[in-house]
Amino acid sequence: MRILAIETSCDETAVAIVETGGSGTSRFVRVLASKVSSQIAVHAPFGGVVPNIARREHEKNLVPVLCAALKEGGVYEVSSIRYQVLSKKANASLGTKYSKLNTLFQREPELLKKIVKHIASLRVPEIDAIAVTYGPGLAPALWVGVNFARALGVLWGKPVIPVNHLEGHIYTNFLPDEGGEISSSKFLISKQIKKSKTLHPTSYILNRISFPALCLIVSGGHTELVLMEKRGSYTILGETLDDAAGEAFDKVAKMLCLGYPGGPAISALAEMQIRSRSGPTDPTFRVTLPRPMMQSADYNFSFSGLKTAVLYFLQDHPEFLKSKGGRAAIAREFQRAVVDVLVSKTVRAAKEFRVRTVMIGGGVAANSHLRDRLCVVLRREIPNTNYLIPNTSLTGDNALMIALAALLGRRKKLRVGELLSARPNLRLDE
Ligand code: KG4
Ligand code: ZN
Repeated sequence: MRILAIETSCDETAVAIVETGGSGTSRFVRVLASKVSSQIAVHAPFGGVVPNIARREHEKNLVPVLCAALKEGGVYEVSSIRYQVLSKKANASLGTKYSKLNTLFQREPELLKKIVKHIASLRVPEIDAIAVTYGPGLAPALWVGVNFARALGVLWGKPVIPVNHLEGHIYTNFLPDEGGEISSSKFLISKQIKKSKTLHPTSYILNRISFPALCLIVSGGHTELVLMEKRGSYTILGETLDDAAGEAFDKVAKMLCLGYPGGPAISALAEMQIRSRSGPTDPTFRVTLPRPMMQSADYNFSFSGLKTAVLYFLQDHPEFLKSKGGRAAIAREFQRAVVDVLVSKTVRAAKEFRVRTVMIGGGVAANSHLRDRLCVVLRREIPNTNYLIPNTSLTGDNALMIALAALLGRRKKLRVGELLSARPNLRLDE
């Protein structure tokens, strides 16, 4: 089974081509291509993602990213056939397809022009289906990807598989985390790792997951503890009642004037202080923040109060903002507070539901303090539980994870041309 996957739910435009092979313990996936075009630089001056700018950027980038993925995937050579002359019959069938495309892209004329110019005359690639993120995410951004996937489905006569973005984050745990880069780059991802476990430079034996499994999803828009009895089955045990963990990182980073996105910046500053050991021993920069809801009996989270606590602390102690040592002390304590709560609830849920595997996913899963701390506490308290973490090149949004979810998760396949709507508030348990 070979899937072409598309991801446009937030500020990354991504396309991947992935296939599965083998069986049983030697089941593997082969990554033929995985490309990500990041919009971070465009949104950074605004201090966050601007939905309509995201849409415009997806419209601009989808076609070049797709062409690059098709070329890298070797499903055919794009340059040799881009301008092929079509037969009369092919032209006639394109006529009806064009009218469908016109309807699909009424609101995205720019993308329609590009599809007609670059994609419509391409030979149909050797894929079985097109997977696309249809939620959750920013509505204008999701719609571009969904319509694009439907257009390709119509043009190529391929079914579309709608994928929940969070399901994608979960399945990054199914690829081995062996260090190195599975596939990533600023505009176009192309580097792949060669490891002993691989069958081919781009092939990976899938991790065997023992169920039940618990996944902590921590991203810019979500914080959820999800129980899985098997692949494709999700029960949300708890979720954030206000801000997501990543959102809190971004907002506190803004207060500390660290720019956007804030997670990596806070993490780097906190690590710096740990290495220099200047903070905790320096009484000038002592700060203690709350661990919201850590003791609550449920599995929900709340990070909005923690963010406000930082704000009030900075109002009372403006001197912390003026020096790097002060900012680092806050970054470190904030990161510890978030991670303490995440780890405490994850471990408690893992015990209560007697899971055999714990995993994490989403942008914040790149955070090394979270990765390490969860490992330490799990080892200490439930050492027989497996602990998986995704390769850090897959924690941010990408299309490889959407392909994995389409191959390994729920398999909802639509008929060719069937309607599909973007679902900004889509949940994992529906
Ligand atoms: O999953 P993701 O790429 O996009 C969404 O689906 O939301 O997550 C992005 C979030 C951002 O809030 C970003 O600040 C956060 O993940 N993030 C981190 C780290 N790297 C990214 N948060 C904490 N530590 C990191 N190292
Ligand atoms: Zn995400």
